[in-house]
Amino acid sequence: MALFTLDRTRRRSLQDQLAGRIRAAVADGTLAPGERLASARALAAQLGVARGTVDAAYARLAGEGLLMTQGPRGTLVSPAARPGAAPTVSSPLGPPLAPPARPPPLRVGLPALDLFPRALWARLVARAARGGAGAALAYPDPAGLAALRAAIASYLAVARGVACAASQVIVTAGYQGALTLLARLLLPAGAAVWCENPGYKLAARALAAAGALVLPLAVDAEGATIPPDDRARVAVLTPAHQSPTGVALSAHRRQALLDWAARRGGFLIEDDYDAEFHYLGVRPPALKSRDTGDRVILAGSFSKTLFPGLRLGYVVVPAELLVAATRQALLATHGAPALTQAAVAAFLTEGHFARHLRRMRSAYAVRRAALAAAVTEAFAGRLTVLPRPGGLQLLALCPDGTRPGWDLAAVRRAEAAGLGPAALSAQFLGPPRAQGLLLGFTNIAETDAAPIAAALRRAVGPIPPVPPCPTAGLTP
Ligand SMILES: Cc1ncc(COP(=O)(O)O)c(C=O)c1O
Repeated sequence: MALFTLDRTRRRSLQDQLAGRIRAAVADGTLAPGERLASARALAAQLGVARGTVDAAYARLAGEGLLMTQGPRGTLVSPAARPGAAPTVSSPLGPPLAPPARPPPLRVGLPALDLFPRALWARLVARAARGGAGAALAYPDPAGLAALRAAIASYLAVARGVACAASQVIVTAGYQGALTLLARLLLPAGAAVWCENPGYKLAARALAAAGALVLPLAVDAEGATIPPDDRARVAVLTPAHQSPTGVALSAHRRQALLDWAARRGGFLIEDDYDAEFHYLGVRPPALKSRDTGDRVILAGSFSKTLFPGLRLGYVVVPAELLVAATRQALLATHGAPALTQAAVAAFLTEGHFARHLRRMRSAYAVRRAALAAAVTEAFAGRLTVLPRPGGLQLLALCPDGTRPGWDLAAVRRAEAAGLGPAALSAQFLGPPRAQGLLLGFTNIAETDAAPIAAALRRAVGPIPPVPPCPTAGLTP
């Protein structure tokens, strides 16, 4: 029997009726969170309606967060959908703004897309388009819009303890753009570079694609270790919260790495991407703030503080590299989009940035604690949520001795259920030394944490029993 029936005699459109039936089926539990729906083609045939009617109803419910579309793999009831809950049909942003697309629950690397002040952003973009620097139609300064570079320099002085002139700030296409620029600047073809292991794979891959030889730099419970030999004079680090382990680089290691760079006449590239989101104790200042020898190149990104679709970041370049860096910015991109830069400059200088970060820090502290508690309970001691001071994701570590490949398989099963965790073992350059699940908490409302953790537990299936000894060298 068909799950849904439509009434052609009613004035309400077939698409409206179908969307309403699906909402009701989720609300009364007929359709369970994570359950797969019939393909649009099959359902259209079953109901005798055009396929576009079903597509449109599915897309609408996906926009509301009730369903998740997964391309050729079909459409699922969102694992976060709660039976009995009233469907969220209206956007808190008001009628002119469409609700933001919801990422799969637990997806790492994203800020809270539901909490970004989009109406304000829309106003700033419109204002920038109407006048001032954003309206400039000619080529922008390749190093960045003067107002934005100045705003970034003031922000870094206040928030990250970094004293730099606006002229040292070069605006890039996010961290990825910064790395590509730095690779051209510091790494002639075949030159070697140390990258943390485990680490941010996209960075290592970008450097390799630029022709560099990537050398793995071990990470332990104090963060990145000291390069063991002299094969390279550049190291890429995530000092605030090591990606992906979340460890904050210890004071002792910070000094030792600065000494290493001074001794080698080399550079440390400081990826400061998530430093703002520190929940326990005092937020450590940037490594760059202690850099008396001008050996640290700080790279920041607006991907986590605002949103990644912006594609805006920056590098603070040591004086000796400034001319060459500006030239590379010209050759690589001829500057970043002027309109976006102008809107971000206004966001910073008018106080919205500081306010937004304050709000996000409180929201993330709540979401993080809720998900950590829910995952700890759902996995009942089988995975250990490591107590890390900050960042945008949790690391639930598998015990030593877990069957190789378990986390990769678990992630595949979770993806099939519409969830978006990542596997720790996939973040290693070479053979993995530990396994675990990386769980993004930023887009999970406090009340959704328990059902999502339960959905994850159901999705990953059995966890092989092993002695409870989760160390892997990543815990103190
Ligand atoms: C370790 C790390 N650095 C930097 C970034 C930001 O990259 P981008 O500015 O290219 O979006 C990310 C985003 O996920 C990241 O995980």
